[in-house]
Amino acid sequence: MMNHSTTSPDQELTIEVCHGPQCSDIGGRALSEELEANGMKSIIGDCRGQCPNAPLVLVDNRMICNATVEKVRNRIDDIASGAFPSY
Ligand code: FES
Repeated sequence: MMNHSTTSPDQELTIEVCHGPQCSDIGGRALSEELEANGMKSIIGDCRGQCPNAPLVLVDNRMICNATVEKVRNRIDDIASGAFPSY
């Protein structure tokens, strides 16, 4: 597993960005940088078998397929508001 944590103390949710081969080709690594630029710290994850839906992001282990910064932000907002249950 190639995880390295960059989670900040004030961020409660874990954002994991797949850096497996397909997700990296489709923009997973760039997405990690975009999330960071938008104030969202993430960790690097391995392939989860969702390669056709790359790039894959997990927010508190909940998958986001074809992930974008906007989708990640919306998922975080949904979890915070209770619209999408967190673990
Ligand atoms: S490479 Fe990301 S889910 Fe397979």
